[in-house]
Amino acid sequence: MCGIFGYIGDKQATNLLLDGLRRLEYRGYDSAGIAILNSNISSSKCIGRVANLESIVTSELNGTCGIAHTRWATHGGVTDANAHPHLSEDGTVAIIHNGIIENSRALRNWLTSEGVLLRSDTDSEVLAHLIHRARKDGLSPLDSVRRALRHTRGTWGLCAIFEDEEVIVCARNGSPLVVGVGDGESFVASDPHALTPHTQRVIFLEDGDLAVLTAGGIKTSRLDGGVSDAIVTTIDESWGEADLGDFPHFMLKEIYEQPEALRQCISGRILLGSGNGKLGGLDLATKSLRDIPHIRLIGCGTALHACQVGRLAIEELARVPTQSHVASEFRYNNPVIDPNSLYFAVSQSGETADTLSAVKEIQLKGGQVMGIINVVGSSIARQCARGVYIHSGPEQAVASTKAFSNMIAALTIFSVQIGRARSLSKSDGVSVLKALNDVPDQIERYLSDVGPIMDAVEAVKDAKHVLFLGRGASAPVAREGALKLMEVAYIPCLAYPAGEMKHGPIALLEEGSPVVVICPNDKFRSKTLSNIQECKARGAKIILIHDEGDDEAAAEADVAIAVPSSHSIVSPLLTVVPLQLIAYHAAVVLEKDVDKPRNLAKSVTVE
Ligand code: G6P
Repeated sequence: MCGIFGYIGDKQATNLLLDGLRRLEYRGYDSAGIAILNSNISSSKCIGRVANLESIVTSELNGTCGIAHTRWATHGGVTDANAHPHLSEDGTVAIIHNGIIENSRALRNWLTSEGVLLRSDTDSEVLAHLIHRARKDGLSPLDSVRRALRHTRGTWGLCAIFEDEEVIVCARNGSPLVVGVGDGESFVASDPHALTPHTQRVIFLEDGDLAVLTAGGIKTSRLDGGVSDAIVTTIDESWGEADLGDFPHFMLKEIYEQPEALRQCISGRILLGSGNGKLGGLDLATKSLRDIPHIRLIGCGTALHACQVGRLAIEELARVPTQSHVASEFRYNNPVIDPNSLYFAVSQSGETADTLSAVKEIQLKGGQVMGIINVVGSSIARQCARGVYIHSGPEQAVASTKAFSNMIAALTIFSVQIGRARSLSKSDGVSVLKALNDVPDQIERYLSDVGPIMDAVEAVKDAKHVLFLGRGASAPVAREGALKLMEVAYIPCLAYPAGEMKHGPIALLEEGSPVVVICPNDKFRSKTLSNIQECKARGAKIILIHDEGDDEAAAEADVAIAVPSSHSIVSPLLTVVPLQLIAYHAAVVLEKDVDKPRNLAKSVTVE
């Protein structure tokens, strides 16, 4: 989603800013822009990729202080005029903004009545004019931003530059912003990993914080004029170094990274001797694990599907009632929060606005929330204070793959840990953990010979729609497979628990309709095989994901893809891989932008 990068120092800013934007590209965006301060402010912006912006940036964009932005449209269509930066009428103030200004309609009307000419349809533009008016009234850059924001309702990650003073003023409220401390230079970005090539010393701004950046340093304060608690922390420099290597796309690279990513996630957390899991970051004593009456898992998109898999594992192994929730629904449904229950916020980016707000709502009502997060130091990780990092490493493709696997692995270890504190036997704990331990090697083996993936792609690529079916833990895997194919290949997909298919989706089936069925050798197998018969009887073409050696199931399919056989609790980690590959290859065959699918964003920082 929208990205911010800013620089002030002694170097030429333009290339630094364009580089910064390139590091933010993976988040998903539709236009880009840049503003540089010299004797006055020059700016360039356009729809499309950062490469398009680069091609229109002129040599006039010369200066050592500037701000740059990638926009993901919320208010106002994808047009050059709506791209950021937005300038005040006289061009003396330029702003870039992430988030949503909720009272922008009223502010636009008021500014128009005051004779201000608005040049875009965005909510953000009002900020440039409000700041400019305060500046004209003689306020400092910092106080101008402060005054503008006091008239504003909504969320912001905001940066402003001024023609008559070499500073960048930044403000955060609900939209992530991190400033970087350099030697004789300062940086700001919406994502800390855009800063790591320049500095590892950063300050994560909190909601209500402001920062004034100069070449000589950074001063933070609060919107109400008070003192900010923001402190300098050091982040891991290795994180940001994701490159494609020999892979054509990040999505494929990340699919192939799953074995290694899983090893990173489970390393040191599996105690085979006692059949127990050890997630130290939860800091939960056995007594508390015994007393938890209820568990709720909260996430969006792929993370939600990981929650759905985790829910089943926890109920199965620990016999604790567990539910998974769509974060955007959960937070607004006035949730009943039990202070004795345990809540998990599951997120790759750690920045998803709906998940973050759900965390705050739970905390407000006295609940304890743990994070299951990939990005270290992200907003949700910091808000939760306790939790588990899933250690997937940087995930660049918008369509999440390796983070899904690691979320499931972390939740599986948790289900063993809480299970062992309750009624799970040592031998059952050992068998789940051994199976989990074997998964990285099993995925590696599968990836060395992926089976007839291209036959499956041939069957789905021109389909009107694709139906995905599974039972038990394979039902959320079916949802994840459908989400992946829809996200990257833009094929309408529907996922259903296989037994529910006859109550609706069966009406869609006609001669040749592709149906993807996930059917490992678990307790649901024979029931799912019956559902396959029901589909075949209506002319459907079956793409089956099954366990190696299950020739009886394979014989029922038009395309049969075998994965190594495993314990039913961890089977999603194996069965999802061919689904990721089908989605990836379908997108490539259809010539779609695999890593940056249209309209989607990696880190969804608006509601
Ligand atoms: C967006 C991304 C998805 C992701 C979801 C949740 O929709 O496109 O890939 O699953 O957000 O993101 P999170 O970072 O919270 O896991």
